[in-house]
Amino acid sequence: MKRILITLIAAVAALVPAAARDSRAAGFNDGWRFHLGEVAGAEAPGYDDSGWRKLDLPHDWAIEGDFSKDNSSGTGGGALPGGIGWYRKSFDLTKNDLKKQIYIDFDGVYMNSTVYVNGHRLGTRPYGYISFSYDLTPWLHAGRNVVAVHVDNAEQPNSRWYSGCGIYRNVWLRKLNPVHVAMWGTFVTTPEVSDKEAAVNVATEIENSGRKQQKVGLRTALLSPSGRVVASHDTTLTVAPGTASVEGVRMRVDKPKLWSTRTPVLYTVRSTVSDSRGKTIDEYLTPIGLRSFKFDAKTGFSLNGERMKINGVCLHHDAGALGAVVNKAAIRRQLQIMKDMGVNAIRSSHNPPAPELADLCDEMGLLFMDETFDMWRKKKTAHDYARYFNEWHERDMDDLIRRDRNHPSIIMWSIGNEVLEQWNDAAADTLSLEEANLILNFGHSKEQLAAEGEVNVNMLLTQKLADRVRSLDPTRPVTAGCNEPNPGNNLFRSGALDIIGYNYHDSDFASVPQNFPGKPFIVTESVSGLATRGYYDMPADSMHIWPERWDKPFFNETFSCSSFDNCHVPWGNTHAGTMRHVRDNDFISGQFVWTGFDYIGEPTPYGWPARSSYFGIVDLAGIPKDIYYMYQGEWRPDVNVLHLLPHWNWEPGRVVDVWAYYNNADEVELLLNGRSLGTRSKGPDDFHVSWQVPFEPGTLTAISRRDGREVARAERRTAGAPAAIRLTPDRSEINADGTDLSYVLAEVVDKDGNVCPWADNQIFFEVEGPAFNAGVDNGSPISLERFKDNKRRAFYGKAMLIVQNAGGKTGTATVRATSEGLAPAETTITSK
Ligand code: GAL
Repeated sequence: MKRILITLIAAVAALVPAAARDSRAAGFNDGWRFHLGEVAGAEAPGYDDSGWRKLDLPHDWAIEGDFSKDNSSGTGGGALPGGIGWYRKSFDLTKNDLKKQIYIDFDGVYMNSTVYVNGHRLGTRPYGYISFSYDLTPWLHAGRNVVAVHVDNAEQPNSRWYSGCGIYRNVWLRKLNPVHVAMWGTFVTTPEVSDKEAAVNVATEIENSGRKQQKVGLRTALLSPSGRVVASHDTTLTVAPGTASVEGVRMRVDKPKLWSTRTPVLYTVRSTVSDSRGKTIDEYLTPIGLRSFKFDAKTGFSLNGERMKINGVCLHHDAGALGAVVNKAAIRRQLQIMKDMGVNAIRSSHNPPAPELADLCDEMGLLFMDETFDMWRKKKTAHDYARYFNEWHERDMDDLIRRDRNHPSIIMWSIGNEVLEQWNDAAADTLSLEEANLILNFGHSKEQLAAEGEVNVNMLLTQKLADRVRSLDPTRPVTAGCNEPNPGNNLFRSGALDIIGYNYHDSDFASVPQNFPGKPFIVTESVSGLATRGYYDMPADSMHIWPERWDKPFFNETFSCSSFDNCHVPWGNTHAGTMRHVRDNDFISGQFVWTGFDYIGEPTPYGWPARSSYFGIVDLAGIPKDIYYMYQGEWRPDVNVLHLLPHWNWEPGRVVDVWAYYNNADEVELLLNGRSLGTRSKGPDDFHVSWQVPFEPGTLTAISRRDGREVARAERRTAGAPAAIRLTPDRSEINADGTDLSYVLAEVVDKDGNVCPWADNQIFFEVEGPAFNAGVDNGSPISLERFKDNKRRAFYGKAMLIVQNAGGKTGTATVRATSEGLAPAETTITSK
């Protein structure tokens, strides 16, 4: 017999948690007014905002600004402005609306947002990455209402990377019957999953915001991927004002379609609430996936019983030239570029992600490590979240877990990244941002580690956080990104982590099985290789470990890092080096490479004018660096990879190192202008083959062969003088939804269409028709040109224009690119 448990919980507070992806929510992004700077009285409904700028959310005012070394975010924060901003929106309600319970949901506001409705202050949320919601009902009236949001990101630095400023994620409005499924009100677990059968358990919270108790029906239905009801369950309950939870609803599915990285099929739990006459008063949808997974101390990770290495990357939240603005098409593109490389897992470093990221991981078949904080009580930068931690961490963590715990993609929670509580005393209070960035990864003394049997406040805090996560979600393991590999690390010593997570420290991997017997292990962060797309430092086998020391300012006049996988930070490794460890050790569940994409801020090893990272496998504009193809070769056996580097434009006679990344072949032969320069094969520990070739202009050809038969061919041709621009959109058809994007690659080519690898021509862009220029970039970490502009210099021959559908209009937009002395180019983007 099924047991139904009904518990009554305290009356609804004014501040209720809410998910942004709520199936009942309507977009509330359009028609806002914005003012940069502090003003008095802007929360008042009658305040005259007619002079303010009109805009649609999501919005990031920092990305519209100019880079300056005087911006208090520092280069670590991207050298873009901070400050205070106000947003206001008027909206009309009918008398009928007032019978409803009306909520406003924010997916994320950076940071310190205070929300008002009709002059009434609803609350403040300091954490810039958390989703939150307010019940507007008591303060609404028929006719015109006004929401005002004050955003305070003035005190900087408060982040080790670019945060963005403003209401940078989506805003929603929910109008519900007073009795409804609470926000994040379902928790679906799948305790048994096999090819034959799956068990699906659902707990549902019903909220009664009215004054009287109500008798309601709750039908819980499980819908197949095609929308057919495959199981359902009915119950009735009486809900007093407040919240009631319905537990123990258990359904079974025969021959389920399993969610996996190859087959990301989603089922849906539909929760329907009806009144005493049987009329539907609320319906709530929870997408889920049926899958099982396991972390094992000896054999690593498995999904649905199948062993699998976690081939992951860390991603920060910015979208390059779009800044922190959430755009689903931009995230989808990032994830697709990663998937094409062979990535099967994403880590949202180091904060609660936009809801769209986990949604897309569910849809696209990517595993996901969901992370809470970059700091606990000990700060890493002067004004960061540490100052709010004591008051807010429980609320913020709970909200994240409750929002995200139904995603099949999520396979573990991280309670923190490199928190300084790993050590007994590691106050960073006296450090500059640059120093804090770097000290995190250098050795700490013995006294700072916890002895066996010791109990200290940092261990207790670790236990508290991990237990709290498990109480909200007992189905997933808890880990943390740790850069202290010693078992005396307070987080490890606490015994609270289900999975040992190392950031870097490759030379300590081997001792994990002895040091942490029986514990699964994952490299939560790895590599931190440094590369500038298109830049090559030779000889390729000379290593650059930069910066030399965290406390020594680093300088090199090139402000560049070589693309030969021969440059990395001292706490990291080469891409190939870590790949070898992870590949060769079954107990390593996998890794999350730092990072998949370059991001704004943290331009290690350089300072100003460098203002974005060198860590990405792909540059900030979304153009892959050469190392992309090493990963693709290793992680995509289903694709024949052969990638040749560098380009073939050098001074005559110069000896050039030539590398090839390849897979699925026994050997690669290199030819210059038809003459063979020899055939090479990788040894078991190699990830590329190489030649040294005195440069002569012409064509360099690589041919990979297996059993003597050609598998793939790659070519590099010496380019002549820049003659023209070539435009290549990644999508020439986009959705007419006001947000969809096409990324248009602009290349400077010679008269025969070869990319000119040294070209830095200034390119002007023009977009005409139902689309607009949403941003420009070229992937250079030191360009101080604006992201919001109609021009961009090519960087090693390439630049990127982001075209966005305008206002949901259909039709064809023309994109034109011109540059002095070059033949112009034109392409079209059709919005449908
Ligand atoms: C790690 C840190 C990351 C990033 C990286 C750069 O220690 O977790 O956030 O700073 O170093 O190498």
